[in-house]
Amino acid sequence: AGEEIDEAASRAQADMSEIMSSLPRCPVYLTHHYRGFWIREFVLKGMAAAQASFEPRPTDVFLASCPKSGTTWLKALAFATLNRATHLPSDSNHPLCHRNPHDCVAFLETRPVPETMALPSPRLLATHIPCSLLPSRITECGRVVYVCPEPKDALVSFWIYNNKIAPMLRRKFGLESPSPTFEEAFELFCEGQSSFGPPWRHALEYWEESRRRPGKVLFLRYEDMLQDPTGNTKNLAAFMGCPFSCAEEEAGVVQEIVQLCSFEKLKSSEVNKNGSSAMMGVNNDVYFRKGAVGDWKNYMTPEMAARLDKIVEEALQGSGLTF
Ligand code: A3P
Repeated sequence: AGEEIDEAASRAQADMSEIMSSLPRCPVYLTHHYRGFWIREFVLKGMAAAQASFEPRPTDVFLASCPKSGTTWLKALAFATLNRATHLPSDSNHPLCHRNPHDCVAFLETRPVPETMALPSPRLLATHIPCSLLPSRITECGRVVYVCPEPKDALVSFWIYNNKIAPMLRRKFGLESPSPTFEEAFELFCEGQSSFGPPWRHALEYWEESRRRPGKVLFLRYEDMLQDPTGNTKNLAAFMGCPFSCAEEEAGVVQEIVQLCSFEKLKSSEVNKNGSSAMMGVNNDVYFRKGAVGDWKNYMTPEMAARLDKIVEEALQGSGLTF
């Protein structure tokens, strides 16, 4: 079975390589425009492999997001919650104290399919793949948790992150374009260009899926999580099928998890200050910047904000999703 998976994945990757040469390309972000989304070249092939050969199980939980949405935080919270029986959140040797959340929960599209297939149940995986590009056998089998930030904050987070990882993109993936100024990144973003952009279309697809199948797709907002991390962690646990018992709540287990995964705690740990994750080979500190809402005000003029708000509003009109 392992060989068959490998073969199907390799075929899909080869087909994607061929398709890629004819897709519109953005040299600034090394993305191609594929079925409505701008996707990094080095992710497209992994995505094709997962689409072709990943077999889901009903117990799977997928953490979905557009990049720079709070993915790292959601990975930490879901990992700590699901595994609280084996790893006590109060344990000073908890995996999250010495491993970056990205090394605790892998992305479906960046890890070889046979490896994700071999993980024991219940599997916790993450993905940036848009809902419309995830095969229905995946979305309809397991459970999906989506996290979504306000788009203006997402742009600021993405711009700063992209500049930080540019040396790695040059070294490993042959990026030649200079890093965009904020104004350039803003213009690109307004056209929907970012990693897995447009983010509002990414969010809209999962939003609609969450309304169609509320028991299977949970739509979380980064701002709500910051405001009420305890309530959101309880919801997350219940949704994942492992609700906190009254005894756990009384013993303060939820607060312990929230504390373990807090921005301050993760940002200040040695592994996240000075270590690097196997996933991208960049210093882990790139995943922890400000962790606050409304930082866009320090980068955008009111005119820029109004222009982007209008684009997002028009794209989401009638959907019930607003920012
Ligand atoms: P900022 O750049 O606005 O600070 P992702 O994990 O999807 O890449 O998202 C990154 C954003 O989540 C960054 O936002 C980062 O600081 C923030 N973040 C990371 N860990 C967090 C945590 N534990 N709590 C709250 N926000 C966190």
